Amino acid sequence: MSVHSEIPQPDLSYAMEKARPADYTENGFYGRDIISVRQFNRENLKYIFRVAEEMRSMVERFGSADLLQGKVLANLFYEPSTRTSSSFSAAMQRLGGRVIAINEVVYSSVAKGESLPDTVRTLECYADVIVLRHPEVGAAAIAAHYARKPVINAGDGVGEHPTQALLDLFTIQEELGQIDGLKVAMVGDLKYGRTVHSLTRLLCLYDVDLYFVSPDILRMPAEILEEVKEAGLDYTETSDIHDVIRDVDVLYVTRVQKERFTDLSQYEAVKDCYIVDPELMALAKEKMIVMHPFPRVGEISYAVDDDPRAAYFRQMVNGMYIRMALLAAVLGKA
Ligand code: CP
Repeated sequence: MSVHSEIPQPDLSYAMEKARPADYTENGFYGRDIISVRQFNRENLKYIFRVAEEMRSMVERFGSADLLQGKVLANLFYEPSTRTSSSFSAAMQRLGGRVIAINEVVYSSVAKGESLPDTVRTLECYADVIVLRHPEVGAAAIAAHYARKPVINAGDGVGEHPTQALLDLFTIQEELGQIDGLKVAMVGDLKYGRTVHSLTRLLCLYDVDLYFVSPDILRMPAEILEEVKEAGLDYTETSDIHDVIRDVDVLYVTRVQKERFTDLSQYEAVKDCYIVDPELMALAKEKMIVMHPFPRVGEISYAVDDDPRAAYFRQMVNGMYIRMALLAAVLGKA
C-alpha cells in the first residue's frame, strides 16, 4: 500500500510552498490544505484559538450549530485512530455537516489496490474536505497535490500530526494562561512520535525552555533539534525524568510505539522506561500539567487521573474545538 510506488511523484516543494507562514489576522485558511505546523505563525494560531474558543461557547450553550450545513467531510484513515477520527467526525456533525467515514480502508477499494491519488480524487467528488491519516511520511502532501479540495493531515507516519499539535498548544494556553516563559518536557518516544515533532516545531514560535527525555535509541531527531537551535531556544536532553520533574510546567508524555519498531527486542527493552505515577507527581510543581496525546499503554498510571494536574482528558475535549475551528476555516465559514 505504498504511496511511493507506481504513482507519478509530485514535486513536494508544492506542499511546502503552500505551507509558508503568512501574517494572517483573519481567516487565511479558506480552501487551503493543512499539512504541516510550518503553515502556522503566532498570528494565525491566535486566530484559530479564538475561533476554537467560540466553538466551545457555542457547544456549551447549544450543542450544535448549522454553520457547515450542506458540507461533507471524508474521514479517510489508513491507520487506527480513536480520538482524531471521532473528534473530526463530532466536529463536523456539531457544525451541521455530514461525514463519509472510511476508518477501515480494508473495506474500501484500497483493498483492491487503488492508489492514494485515485482514492482522494474519488472522495472529493462527494466531499468538500478530506481528513487523511496514513502510515507514510509525506502522504498528506501527496494527497493535497492530487486533490482540489482541502486535505487535512491527521498524521502521516512518523512525520507530522499538525492538528494534534494545535490542540496541544491550545491546551497549554488554556490550562496555564500563557505559553511564553514555560518549561516544557517531552517524554518517551521522541524518535517516532509525530505529535512531539509537530509540537516542538510549534513551540519554536514561542519563548520556551525545552527538555527532551527519552532512552538513547528514541532521541528527538537531529533535524528537529537543529530547528530548535535555529529558533534560538535552549533545550536539554536527558534519559532521566527525575532530572526535570521538579522544574517543568508541562510534562508531555508519549507512548513507545510498538508498531514503529522493526526489532521487537528493542521495543521490549524500552517500553516501560517511564511511568508517571503518584510518587513521581509528588515531586512536581503544584501548578503544572501532565499531557498525553493518547492512547496510553501504561506510561501514566490510572492513579494519576484524579490529580487536577492531569490534563489529558481536557486535552481531548479541546481537540474537538480545534478541529471545529479548522473545518470552519478551510471551508470559509470561520
Ligand atoms: N492522539 C491521537 O492521534 O489519537 P488517535 O490515534 O486515537 O487518533
